[in-house]
Amino acid sequence: MLSQNILVAVAWPYVNGEIHVGHLAGYLLPADAFARWARLRGHQVLMVSGADCHGTPITVEAEKHHLSPQQLIDTYLPQIKELIKLYDLSYDLFTTTQTSNHQKIVQEFFLKLLKNGYIFKKEDYQYYSPSQKRFLPDRYVEGECPYCHSPNQRADQCEVCGRVLDSGQLINPHSKLDGQKVILKKSEHYYLDYPKLEKEIKNFVLKSKHWRPWVWQETMGWLKEGLKPRPISRDLEWGIPFPKDKIPPSWQLKNMNKKRFYVWFDAVIGYISAVREYAQKKKKGSLFSEFWHNPSSRHYYFMGQDNLAFHTIFWPGQLIGQKDNYTLSYQECINKFLTLEGKKFSKSRGVIINSLEVGKKYGSDPIRFYLFSILPENHESSWYWTEFVRTVNGVLVDKVANFFQRVALFQEKFFGGELLVKNVDPSIIKYTLTTFSSVNQKMESCSLGAVFKEVIEVSNKANLYLNQKEPWQQIKVSPSAAKDSLATATYLAANLVVLLSPFIPSFSQRASVLLGLEQTSAQKQPTFSPYSPPFKTKINPSFLPLAKKISL
Ligand code: MF3
Ligand code: ZN
Repeated sequence: MLSQNILVAVAWPYVNGEIHVGHLAGYLLPADAFARWARLRGHQVLMVSGADCHGTPITVEAEKHHLSPQQLIDTYLPQIKELIKLYDLSYDLFTTTQTSNHQKIVQEFFLKLLKNGYIFKKEDYQYYSPSQKRFLPDRYVEGECPYCHSPNQRADQCEVCGRVLDSGQLINPHSKLDGQKVILKKSEHYYLDYPKLEKEIKNFVLKSKHWRPWVWQETMGWLKEGLKPRPISRDLEWGIPFPKDKIPPSWQLKNMNKKRFYVWFDAVIGYISAVREYAQKKKKGSLFSEFWHNPSSRHYYFMGQDNLAFHTIFWPGQLIGQKDNYTLSYQECINKFLTLEGKKFSKSRGVIINSLEVGKKYGSDPIRFYLFSILPENHESSWYWTEFVRTVNGVLVDKVANFFQRVALFQEKFFGGELLVKNVDPSIIKYTLTTFSSVNQKMESCSLGAVFKEVIEVSNKANLYLNQKEPWQQIKVSPSAAKDSLATATYLAANLVVLLSPFIPSFSQRASVLLGLEQTSAQKQPTFSPYSPPFKTKINPSFLPLAKKISL
């Protein structure tokens, strides 16, 4: 197996509220399962992310709660960290966009784009609140829709007729903060000249046909419309400032002290700054280039669908514009939305499941298990509470955990809890090897939902095998036949430990100890490859039951 450098680049959640299970299903769990698999395949994996701390998503929410942005972050960052622990998310580094390392790298990125001729400045009209003496981001301004005349519509889009609006189109615009009238005032901004980068971005996308079909098509849709320059500065005092003393005088913006980088320009650069931070921590400078300036390293990005264009178009553009041979993405593992009982998650409407709360109540295994069974990889999917209970009780407990329990108890009862696994049914070995190669192939393209189904199929097949062989009957007539059946079942159990490990690592670990696989060193070190006979087991029955039924 060829070992590769694999960067698992996970979207950086805004620290502006609770993390609901849509985040888990959308990108947090898929990234974790993928990273675990890749590590067990012997790849050099770096899984990084952090807290996205800037932009109006933070300031609007802070203002709503009469907190400063920093207070808001200090409230929610500990919750994200708790969530990472609770769900066993195996980040190598989870940092924030507030480090000085990140700030410096963002500024350097900008200076390079400026030097390479991809930045221009332009003055445009923007909403301004005379009462508060400040520019207001679109989310802060409401007014009447110029098309359908619905009242109280946001400045960027009318929710009633769906039309996209430009600054200045609203009738009677007023501030959401104090209800006062707002006016239009000129403001100067930096723009990233995407038309100049379009050709190279398109080449990159054309070479990425192995993305999920809907991801590729949606990206091509953007390109077909043609890319427009995008402003990368904002009239905001929260965020990363511009490196004023390194910008030539003719390139300075008016009022530069009151401008900050646009949050999406800043956050994606986190994928770079996090790897730098990690390399510094490990005191291994070369690590950075091994991941970022290495054509054979592979970058896998994980995110929800609302992040698509930022990762498939705008971020590659930022990288290409550096002219520094940065490695571009290999796979964009983008998921559609998860809904709740068929409805969009919405905190204000009470359509919400707090991941920390449910994780504490039911444990991480049941939540991980259910979410992997409904991953919205190509279509939206929905969390249904009754389905959650049915899946956990009917599949995780009754099928998967129960299979391990049956194997363990038979070994206890008939063979003193120790078994040399040999004489395994050749057709089962063949089936298992085929399953592993199919699983590995699908994992490589991040088809985690399909893999999960295949793994559950193995547990079905394993139960069926026991039901057909009935070793508890065989033992009466032929103990050696019973032993061979049990050996085959144990072989399947050991391999299920491996197959389940990316998805429910804690369960898998306990199942491994239950069978005593580590004690007998049936495999020298954990890897994602099949156990092959002969190997020994030693049952530790105190690890039963591996999972318990739940109720709402
Ligand atoms: N904070 C964004 C969101 O929650 C995601 C940012 S991904 C990053 O939608 F890479 F830009 F950080
Ligand atoms: Zn309208």
